[in-house]
Amino acid sequence: MLVAPSSNRVYADAAPRLAAAEIETVLAAFGSTPDVAPIDLAGVDYLTISASGDEVVPALSNLSATFALFEREGELLRPIPLQRRQFYPSDLVTIQKYQGKTNEQWTRLLLNVTAAATKRPSKWLDGGLDVMDPMCGRGTTLNIALLAGYSVTGVDVDRKDYDTYAAFLKTWVQAHRLKHTMDRGASTTGGRARGREFTLEVAPTKDAFKTGDTQTVRYLSTDTTDLGGLVRAASIDVIVTDTPYGVQHGSHGDRLSRRPLELLDRAMPAWIRTLRTGGTVGLSYNRHVAPAENLALMLEQHGLIVVTDWRDSPFRHRVDASIDRDLIVARKES
Ligand SMILES: C[S@@+](CC[C@H](N)C(=O)[O-])C[C@H]1O[C@@H](n2cnc3c(N)ncnc32)[C@H](O)[C@@H]1O
Repeated sequence: MLVAPSSNRVYADAAPRLAAAEIETVLAAFGSTPDVAPIDLAGVDYLTISASGDEVVPALSNLSATFALFEREGELLRPIPLQRRQFYPSDLVTIQKYQGKTNEQWTRLLLNVTAAATKRPSKWLDGGLDVMDPMCGRGTTLNIALLAGYSVTGVDVDRKDYDTYAAFLKTWVQAHRLKHTMDRGASTTGGRARGREFTLEVAPTKDAFKTGDTQTVRYLSTDTTDLGGLVRAASIDVIVTDTPYGVQHGSHGDRLSRRPLELLDRAMPAWIRTLRTGGTVGLSYNRHVAPAENLALMLEQHGLIVVTDWRDSPFRHRVDASIDRDLIVARKES
């Protein structure tokens, strides 16, 4: 595997290690235990992966750091055609730039590792995955999920993020002349006002739209700790979110955002209710403000089973002096 050059800019020295951890975690879900090692070929860094199984190439094709895959034949490298799940132009993910945006590659890694940990990891490759980001900001996860052909729900309490993302998405589908409908309105349940919401229904081609082979992006501008009546119970396969870092990021400075553990503890019952049995929650978090042990304990207190190694996490990396970033994944067993 040739690791995408951008990942070196994002994670500096951690890029090959994070890529190796993603490969091992995702392939393990498909019953493969690969040997992964860094190698220098003619002055260029690659990862060598020894693995077998029908899912290996499709899985490797969709990892966050994959730039190109080759099969080694003696001294030579034979290119392997990638089997990427990419249904729309990739500028969907890259156009928006703003303070507090979660890194795209890290978001993709989090989605991949979380989807692979469900009871049915094949849904990640066959497209039948229902994704939710319950603190979605301006939609990095929503864009990545849409690009990969999944339907996705986003929630965020910040009205400005909602308005900005709704405007961006509408402009983007129009600019790419994608057939779509977009319904916007107020959410109400039992006569109670619950904020704003929009639903975009879109397909990569006119024919797909006509035959109803569409995806939806639904965004609720509301408090994530109270989703009752807004998101159907047992309708989501994977919840992925980049939790507040506990440091000031632009406008996201409310009291609970500075105490991510307290916020997660309050939100968890609402989130778990929306998950299907066998579904997973994947959280990106700052170990400085949410100690790993406390987070793992909190997830287990809500009845989830933590499936990643939080003690010696291969995904832990330093972003800057105030952010020691990691991820944790937990599954709803019953
Ligand atoms: C780290 S940011 C997510 C950024 C996002 N991944 C992106 O790339 O745009 C965390 C988000 O949590 C949201 N948030 C904090 N408290 C919330 C609450 N009670 N309900 C819903 N969203 C909340 C903030 O508004 C913020 O957008």
